[in-house]
Amino acid sequence: MVRYRSADGKGVLLVGDSRSLPTIPNRSVAVILTSPLYWIRGRGRQSVSRYAKRLALEYGREWRRVLSSDGDLWIVIGDRHDGREWAGMDGLVADWFRRTGWSLQAKGLWAEHPSRARWDDRVNYLLRFKKAGRRSLPPKTTLCWRLPIPWSPRGSLWDATPPPVVRALLALSAEGTVLDPFFGSGIVGVVAARMGRPWIGVERDLSQVRVAARRLRLTRVRPEQTRSPRTSVPR
Ligand SMILES: C[S@@+](CC[C@H](N)C(=O)[O-])C[C@H]1O[C@@H](n2cnc3c(N)ncnc32)[C@H](O)[C@@H]1O
Repeated sequence: MVRYRSADGKGVLLVGDSRSLPTIPNRSVAVILTSPLYWIRGRGRQSVSRYAKRLALEYGREWRRVLSSDGDLWIVIGDRHDGREWAGMDGLVADWFRRTGWSLQAKGLWAEHPSRARWDDRVNYLLRFKKAGRRSLPPKTTLCWRLPIPWSPRGSLWDATPPPVVRALLALSAEGTVLDPFFGSGIVGVVAARMGRPWIGVERDLSQVRVAARRLRLTRVRPEQTRSPRTSVPR
C-alpha cells in the first residue's frame, strides 16, 4: 500500500481498501473510530440490513484481527428514512456485529443542529463495541451532543464527526494507536494527533487522500523507506 506519514512519525495514512490491511499487525491497534460511507442501494429495511451485514462481515473481520483484545471499536453512523419510515440503522448494525463476535457496550448520539437534511443524517449514533466477552465500564456522562456540522477543508467530500465528539470518545477508550479505516479528510487523525496519540488512517479515494495529506502535513513514504523497520506502522 502507498503510505504517507506525519513529520513526528506518529501518524500514517495508508492508501487503499480497508477490507484488507496486511501491513497492520495483529492486535496492534487500541481503538478503531470511524464513520463508514453508507451509500445504500435500494430503499427500505432490507437494503439497510444488507449494508450492515457487509460492514460486519467484510470490514469487521479485519478490524477484529488488528484490534487488541481489550480494544474499542466506535462506529459513528446515521440512520436512513425511505419516505415511509426510519430503517433503524443502529439496531441493524449492532445486530450484525453481535452475530460476528462483537458486543455493544455503549450507545450515544450526536445530532446535527441546525440540520441541512430533511430525513437522513440528523442524528448520528455512536456505537461502542468490544470483542465478545470483553466489557467496558459505562461512561460517566451520557454521550449526547447537539452541534453544527463542523468545518471541512477545501476538497473534502464528506461531513466530519465534530472534534469534541471524537476527542471525548478517544478519551474514553483504551490507550494506544487509533485507526480510522474510512479516513476521508482525516478528522480522526487531526484529533488523535492533538491528543498525542499514534494514529493510522486508511482511505481509498485519492482526492480525499490529497486533502488529508495536505491538512495533516503528511509526506509520501518512498517504497525503500516502507521496507525499513523504522518506518513501520506505529503500535
Ligand atoms: C463518510 S466518509 C468519512 C468522513 C471522515 N470522518 C472525514 O473526516 O472526512 C467515508 C470515507 O471512507 C472512504 N471509503 C469507503 N470505502 C472504503 C474502503 N473500502 N477502504 C478505504 N476507504 C473507504 C470513502 O472514500 C470516504 O472518504
